[in-house]
This record gives sequence, structure tokens and C-alpha cells, in this order.
Amino acid sequence: MTKSWPGIIEAYRTYLPVTDKTPVCTLYEGNTPLVPSKMIGPRLGLELYFKYEGLNPTGSFKDRGMTMAISKAKEAGAVAVICASTGNTSASAAAYAAANGLKCVVVIPKGRIAAGKLAQALAHQAQVLAVDGNFDEALEIVRYLTEKHPIELVNSINPDRLEGQKTAAFEICDQLGKAPEYLAIPVGNAGNITAYWMGFVEYKRRGISNSLPRMFGFQAAGSAPIVLGRPVKNPETIASAIRIGNPVRWKQAEEAAASSNGRIDAVTDEEILAAYEMLAAEGLFVEPASAASVAGVIKMVEAKAIAAGSQVVCVLTGHGLKDPNAVDLISNKVRYVDATKKAVETAVMGEGLF
Ligand code: F0G
Repeated sequence: MTKSWPGIIEAYRTYLPVTDKTPVCTLYEGNTPLVPSKMIGPRLGLELYFKYEGLNPTGSFKDRGMTMAISKAKEAGAVAVICASTGNTSASAAAYAAANGLKCVVVIPKGRIAAGKLAQALAHQAQVLAVDGNFDEALEIVRYLTEKHPIELVNSINPDRLEGQKTAAFEICDQLGKAPEYLAIPVGNAGNITAYWMGFVEYKRRGISNSLPRMFGFQAAGSAPIVLGRPVKNPETIASAIRIGNPVRWKQAEEAAASSNGRIDAVTDEEILAAYEMLAAEGLFVEPASAASVAGVIKMVEAKAIAAGSQVVCVLTGHGLKDPNAVDLISNKVRYVDATKKAVETAVMGEGLF
């Protein structure tokens, strides 16, 4: 008998809209570690943890939602799925569709998604369509297509996506033994913050946990429609995953923040990169969008909106390998030296290691 993790559908079956007839399309997503912060937490005076979602099968939290969306699409007899994406949804959709005999179409903003994510969609044989527009425009196009043709939409407008993604909140409660005081999370299309809030509320309603976290969502300053209170026509940020100007789950994100006494705030690209470097310094490689949650917590501590001593969970949504070029934006650089013992020795000794 195997004792290995069965994936989120089997692990949380009674919490999910599945029946005996639903095929379980899993790549064994979920069960990601809750990593106690060694450096950033102590420096901020917080009990800080990272929910390391980059360790999911395709390297992001999207897999939790995709196992549900693909299983339900299969159950409904779909033959093809489609999504618009800033990269991670397309990587996940492509992998789950390939593994389960579904065709997959992904519509992406041309030249604007990270290299690793594009490689994934191509490797899994999705039809990749790059459009000369942004994510919001791509999403509008796929919504139109799914209204016209029998092709399943697997963006987070699809409620099954949120059902799957809420399991991350369950895992955090299971890992901590209770709900955290604060949950900090990057916000793009606002599906994930909506899903986490659903998860925390459901665990409390069912009596598994007895409190709710304050939900703090962070957008990138150049792509911060919720903070500004209006859609952003040309969203900009180095955090390409959250370069979104008109989030579909806008209202729900606001509701999660308001009803939990939290907030939606913005962090600059400089703050995101600083957090990206700090995370790397404690051994955690994430993509820039993920660092927005940590940048936000730093900002909130400085603004005294999060008190010293608080227990905070930051969601690290995607792996650093997704966006290898982002590393060019930080200070460390490759040094080129001659292929001789002497040259390498001189370089090593010049580092002041001893
Ligand atoms: N972090 C990463 C790494 C993401 O890929 C995304 C969204 C988010 C955070 C924000 O999550 O949209 O639910 O608020 N990526 C989507 C995509 C939009 O197409 O991969 P959200």
C-alpha cells in the first residue's frame, strides 16, 4: 500500500464539488511546505512563515485549481480547454490537459510572459497563441470564444479553479494547527485571494479552525487597479505574473480584505526586487510576483499596520525558475575568468572568504 500524498482532490474530497463519477485528474499537487522564515521574520520581529507554492508539479499554485478544473471538464465531456494567461495558468493547463487527453489552447500577451512558463506550455504541446495585447485583452478574447464554442474556460472565472485553490488555506491551518493571524498574498486577477478566503471561512464554519486571518493582498504599483479604484489600461511591472489591469475577481478580493479587517495595497518594483533578493538569501527562489507578498509585509510592518510579534503567512505563489531572466535585475553577476588554476584561485581569494 502506498502512503504517498494523493493530490488535493483525494486529500480534501469532502470539501470539494466532486462525486464518485468525477475522474480525478491529478499530478499530485498540494502538500507544499510551510517554511518558517529564518531571516526576514526575525528581522521584522514577526513569526513569519512562507507557504512555498512553487513546489507544486508545474511550479505554481495554479495546479491546485487546475486539478479541479480539468477533472470537472473531463466529467462534463469536454475535449478542449482554453485560458488567457500571464504564464502560470497556461503552464498548468497545458500539463494537466496533456496528462488527461484534452486539447489545450493558451492565449498569452506577446513577449510578456516569463521564459520558463512559455517553455512549459510548449513542452506540453498546448497550442500557444501570442497576441499583441495585454492579459486583460487576452482574457476578453477567450471569454468570447468559450461562449461561442464548446471549449472549457480554465481561468479563475471558472469556479472549480477557486474550489481547488482554497485547499491551500486548509493546508496552512492543518500545518499551523490553527488559522494564522495574517495572510499576505500577491494579487493579479484576484482569484487566489478569493480562494484562500473561501478556504479559511469554510474551515471555520465546519469547526476545524476557530479564527480567521486578516487578509492582506498586494498588487504591483504599476498594476494596482484595486488600490486605485479604477482599471489600469496599460499595466506595468517587472512582476509579469500580476501585470493585470482589470481583475475578474476584483469585488471578491475587496470583500475578503474588508470582511477580514485586512487591506489591498501596492508595492513598487523596487520593493518587490528587494524582497526577491531577501527570499533568495534565505534559500527560497521565487518569481518576482511571489515576492510581492513579502514586500507588502515589510511595508505593513514599517507602517505599523502589522504589529511586532504577529503570526504571518506569506504565500510564495511561483518558483524562481519560472522567470530566470529576473535575476538580471539584482546585483549579483557572473564573472568571467580564464580557465586556469591561477586565475580562478585569484578570483576566489579576492572574495574575502577567509
Ligand atoms: N503569483 C503568481 C506567480 C501568478 O502566476 C499569479 C497569477 C498570481 C500570483 C496572482 O494570482 O491572479 O489569482 O490574483 N497568474 C495568472 C496566470 C494570472 O495567468 O498565470 P491571482
